[in-house]
Amino acid sequence: MSHPSNIFPLKIDGVHVRKRGKVLLSDISLALGGDLTTVVMGPNGSGKTTLMRLMHGLERPRQGSLQWAIPNEQARSQQSFVFQTPIMMRRRVSENLRYPLKLIAMPKQEAETLVEKWLSLTGLSGKEKLPAQFLSGGERQKLAIARAMITKPQVLFLDEPTTNLDGQSTKEIEALLATVKADGTCVVVSTHDLGQAKRLADQVIFLNKGHMCEMTAASQFFKKPLSRPAQQYLDGEIVE
Ligand SMILES: Nc1ncnc2c1ncn2[C@@H]1O[C@H](COP(=O)(O)OP(=O)(O)OP(=O)(O)O)[C@@H](O)[C@H]1O
Ligand SMILES: [Mg+2]
Repeated sequence: MSHPSNIFPLKIDGVHVRKRGKVLLSDISLALGGDLTTVVMGPNGSGKTTLMRLMHGLERPRQGSLQWAIPNEQARSQQSFVFQTPIMMRRRVSENLRYPLKLIAMPKQEAETLVEKWLSLTGLSGKEKLPAQFLSGGERQKLAIARAMITKPQVLFLDEPTTNLDGQSTKEIEALLATVKADGTCVVVSTHDLGQAKRLADQVIFLNKGHMCEMTAASQFFKKPLSRPAQQYLDGEIVE
C-alpha cells in the first residue's frame, strides 16, 4: 500500500469547541499531514482528548472549520482511535482482532492471516482463546492498538496509551508504534510521559486551558519551547 496519509492532510482553522457553556478549545488553527508523529502535550484538563476527538470527527466545531483533504466522513472511516478502555472484555483476544475486519467485510482467509500477524507482533500468540478480561493491563493495551492497526488506518489516534503501564510494557507499545509509523501511518498521540514524548515525537502540539500555545518541531520543543506554559511544563513547574 502507498503512503496515503501524505496526501490526506488536515486543516483546522479558527476552531472553538464549547460544551455546556464551557469553552473546551479556543481558536485552534493547525495543519497536519504526512507520516509524522504528532505528540499532544499539556496539563490535565488542557484539552488534549478533546482536540484528538475533534480531529477524528467526534466533536463538532462551534466556530471555524475543520477539513480533511477528502470528505470528513470518508477520512474518519480510514482512521482509528485508541480510547483508554477500548476492548471488548468478554470476547476472546482473537475475536477482538477479527471484529474490525468483519466490519470491512474482509475475506476470511485474508483476515485470519492478519489476525495471526498481529497476535505475533503483540506477543499475544498462545492467548488468542482467552477472554480479553483475563489479560493484564499492558496486554490489553497492546490488543487495543493491534485492533486499531489491523485495518491499516491512515491516521491512528492514541489517547495516553501507556498510562499505568510499567517500563517494559511501555517499551513494547512504543515498538509497536514504530512499526505502525514505518508503515506510513500518521500517528497522533497524547501523553504525560516526557520520555515517551521525546522518543516518539516529530512535532509537538502544546495545549494549555484550551488554547494551543504552540506546534513545534520536536527537536526545537525539547530544547527550547516557544511558549512560557510549555517551558514551565517541561521544567516540572505548575503551568499558569
Ligand atoms: N462533555 C463535557 N462537558 C463539559 N466539559 C467537558 C466535557 N468534556 C470535557 N470537558 C472539560 O474540558 C476540559 C478539557 O478536557 P480534556 O479531557 O480534553 O482534557 P485533557 O487535556 O485530555 O486532560 P487529561 O490530561 O486529564 O486527560 C476539562 O476541563 C474537562 O472537564
Ligand atoms: Mg485526556
